[in-house]
Amino acid sequence: MSTQPDSNSFFAVPDAYDNFMGRFAKPLAQLFVKTIPLARGDEVLDIGCGPGALTAQLVNVVGAKHVSVVDPSPPFLDACKQRYPGVTGKVGRAEALPFDAHAFDAVMSQLVIHFVGDLDQAGKEIVRVTRPGGWVATCTWLFERMELIYFMDQAARAVGSSAPPAPRVHEFSGEGSVAAYLESIGLEDVTETTLTVKSGYANFEELWNSYLVGIGPIAPWMNEQSDESRAAVRTELFKLAGEPTGAFELSATARSAHGRTPA
Ligand SMILES: C[S@@+](CC[C@H](N)C(=O)[O-])C[C@H]1O[C@@H](n2cnc3c(N)ncnc32)[C@H](O)[C@@H]1O
Repeated sequence: MSTQPDSNSFFAVPDAYDNFMGRFAKPLAQLFVKTIPLARGDEVLDIGCGPGALTAQLVNVVGAKHVSVVDPSPPFLDACKQRYPGVTGKVGRAEALPFDAHAFDAVMSQLVIHFVGDLDQAGKEIVRVTRPGGWVATCTWLFERMELIYFMDQAARAVGSSAPPAPRVHEFSGEGSVAAYLESIGLEDVTETTLTVKSGYANFEELWNSYLVGIGPIAPWMNEQSDESRAAVRTELFKLAGEPTGAFELSATARSAHGRTPA
């Protein structure tokens, strides 16, 4: 159904990420970090940190020297470590976490599980590195309620073009689907919630340009389109965005779940 994300090409340009997805990831992290009770000095791990939207929040709450981050993309990891001096950063994947058993009081992961190839193996690793009774929390977009991605998908279909490849491996769209994943890896007291954020654009041009230089499969897909097809997509997108004549907002909703490892 989708192209397997390749960390070398999809996740290589931190500034482009910030402009495209980070503008939603940052406000999401402000809500997500509050879903579990963290205290200053807790040891926490941010899996799939990217350039650090969630890392920023974790540093604020527990302190930089108590935050560890891991990501398969070296440019993203480097950007995160530069932005948040004092955090411990390692290149790696959720399926093989380069950390000791029971090293963390809490393990969080924002906008990552839809990319993880082997979710069962990732679950074993997450439980292994979390202390008994520690917190695990993860969230992922509800893509049909993530307007940045959904509008482009709809605009492409409306002009009869094949839609850009979906930037995900798994879909967690059904209610309870993220909680079910956490329960499947052995977590207890699992709770699921939805988190909605908005991001503002000065004008429609700003949104359009973010697709052209964005990350993931959309920018290459746009470049492959004929001028005529790209113009038709732009017209459809303008309609879907509400035909804005000035500043406007897009909204994005994520499904989030948290639970505890058995004590
Ligand atoms: C959409 S970004 C999210 C980044 C950051 N957490 C945020 O909220 O902005 C997805 C991140 O997952 C990372 N990633 C992809 N596959 C992964 C895997 N198997 N294990 C851990 N991270 C992965 C990517 O390199 C990328 O940094």
